[in-house]
Amino acid sequence: MIKPNLQRVASIVTVAALTFSLNAAVASDLVINEEISLTNETAAPAHLENLTTIYSGWNFRKSETQSLQMDDFDNPGMIFVDQAIDQWNVVEGEAGKSCAACHTGGVEEFAGLRAVLPRYDEEAGGIQSMEDYINECRTDRMQADAWKWSESKMTAMTALIGLQSRGMPVNVAIDGDAAEAWELGKEIYYQPVGQLDMACASCHEDNYNTYIRADFLSQGQTNGFPAYRLKNAKLNSIHARFKGCMKNIRATPYKEGSDEFRALELYVASRGNGLSVEGTSVRN
Ligand code: HEC
Ligand code: HEC
Repeated sequence: MIKPNLQRVASIVTVAALTFSLNAAVASDLVINEEISLTNETAAPAHLENLTTIYSGWNFRKSETQSLQMDDFDNPGMIFVDQAIDQWNVVEGEAGKSCAACHTGGVEEFAGLRAVLPRYDEEAGGIQSMEDYINECRTDRMQADAWKWSESKMTAMTALIGLQSRGMPVNVAIDGDAAEAWELGKEIYYQPVGQLDMACASCHEDNYNTYIRADFLSQGQTNGFPAYRLKNAKLNSIHARFKGCMKNIRATPYKEGSDEFRALELYVASRGNGLSVEGTSVRN
């Protein structure tokens, strides 16, 4: 079944010397440490018009990559989680505080937080991501320097906090005060951009489960973030991933931490409502 817009995309792709071809995905159950059973495939949320089933990016990876995520001892992203555990107790800034000094219940306090972020925050008057909350504590409460959006200390801390929600279903709100940003995110998702004139949807909605050059396309879900990538051997933030995808289609990416990327983060997260938070995933 070829939709008109897919035909258009396919011809652009051919011009750009990229090729799509079909291949069956490896689909099985994602169980971690033979103990924690995650939802890596489920019914699409009602707002999605063009998909009936949503899948974790894990489903589309080769079995060797998949198995790295199935055991915390094998998961290379866990090294960074350990670093964040150390960082949690480091006193920094003029106020002479560590994270632990105030969050006395430990990082476990944040169970459930990853599943509902990003979200509309009344005080901030806009959409806030995990990185925003961490930096607010650093600058306002610790009087320490803000971390850069995707620097290693930040991605490690988001991984540690995210891990507390592992197994919980993604459940971001898209209505009420969040609706405006969600609409903007949706617009960005479907807007063809760049020299290749492609949208996020061209690859992750119309062509998931096929190869584009050597890459096997997933639905571009964010439930596994921050993601350890074998390609760059580090944890990658959601915004860094968006930036990379926009560069690949030769579009000018938005800035990490921009309102556009926060809106897009909200919209993409909502496409994964119902999938499990994976903590720290392993990807190509
Ligand atoms: C001086 C005390 C203080 C320090 C130090 C501090 N925080 Fe906070 N933090 C708070 C308060 C107060 C809030 C807002 C109330 C709340 O939601 O718990 C908060 C909120 C948060 C939130 C959002 C929680 C939510 O449910 O909305 C995160 C995430 C967070 N802090 C992480 C950190 C991290 C990571 C560090 C260390 C880098 C840190 N905080 C250091 C006091 C502090
Ligand atoms: C030319 C095709 C293409 C376009 C257009 C594209 N991406 Fe991707 N994207 C990829 C490839 C290839 C990967 C790596 C394999 C995979 O997971 O699909 C990827 C991965 C991702 C991932 C990581 C998924 C995971 O589970 O690790 C996210 C999130 C993502 N893309 C979001 C986006 C967003 C948002 C846009 C629009 C701004 C976009 N992509 C545009 C090709 C594309």
